[in-house]
Amino acid sequence: VFSLLSFRARSKGVLGLIGNTPIISLKRMATGAKANIMVKVEYLNPSGSLKDRIALEMIEEAERQGVLRQGYTILESSTGNTGIALSLVGNVKGYKVLIFETIPGTMSEERVKMMEIFGARVKLVRPSMSGKKDQSVDGAEVELPGRKKCKELEATRHNVWWARQFSSRANVSAHKKTGREILTQTNGRIDAFVASIGTGGTLMGIAEVLRKEVPQAKIIGVQPASSRIPIVLDKPYPRSEISGGIIAEMLERKLIDEVVMIGDREAVRFTHKLWKEEGLFAGVSSGANTLVALKEARRLGEGKTVVTVLPDSGNRYIRDLHYIT
Ligand SMILES: Cc1ncc(COP(=O)(O)O)c(C=O)c1O
Repeated sequence: VFSLLSFRARSKGVLGLIGNTPIISLKRMATGAKANIMVKVEYLNPSGSLKDRIALEMIEEAERQGVLRQGYTILESSTGNTGIALSLVGNVKGYKVLIFETIPGTMSEERVKMMEIFGARVKLVRPSMSGKKDQSVDGAEVELPGRKKCKELEATRHNVWWARQFSSRANVSAHKKTGREILTQTNGRIDAFVASIGTGGTLMGIAEVLRKEVPQAKIIGVQPASSRIPIVLDKPYPRSEISGGIIAEMLERKLIDEVVMIGDREAVRFTHKLWKEEGLFAGVSSGANTLVALKEARRLGEGKTVVTVLPDSGNRYIRDLHYIT
């Protein structure tokens, strides 16, 4: 089976490197927690984040449906990772890619450069960050102006396809694969799963698999403390044509057991711990995920396992605010 899988992966070129990421246990950071904390190293995907999975799935699903054809331009609004992933996957498949890149505050030019290197055209959108309690970025919210632009273009041009990651079923099904990988890698021994919520695709895809195969596992979502629309379990989440699709459905279907709000400072502190104590050069949502996973591991105790993901690479944050100590 292994050689068949690796043959398939090789024949797909770089796209065969997407997914099947390793999972490892935390060592120094887990001191004092009796439960095992396992992190799935999603920043090892080829463009540096778990969004490679959804870029591939959304594009291939659109190809199957015939709504994306050669000569078309792929559109998306992004704060970074999805834009970079669509640029890589779209470009190697021969499409043009146009990303409305939202750059909050001083966020790094490196992201824009990466998209351009992969062949995309990038238009900058400056969001309003006023009224936010801290500087953390909730992609689901700050990307809205870019999504309006995608919608306008979609309405006026026939040869464009908007990936619509916030509501795409392919976003969720891409992460059902992540969920199945986690099941195999842990032999189904999972007591809790933690993931931060942007579009909600990661949490919902993995939760769909876990609810079926390991129904007792607790599903915990993480949201930036600065979110303007906090997720409340028994309250409907606002859904419109340009926002909220996956999150609203996830709440309606009661796929989450708990939502934890994490502030930027705490997330950055834990990201630095991942770098320094574990040698894992992950991004800031990884710090937030690990902090929540560690709290849960302390609560669960001996013989239990908490799983989380490290969504993107630390190289996205080298030049910006995340050097707060
Ligand atoms: C760094 C990072 N972490 C976590 C997430 C959350 O992932 P999802 O959109 O699948 O909820 C995203 C994307 O929004 C992200 O870019």
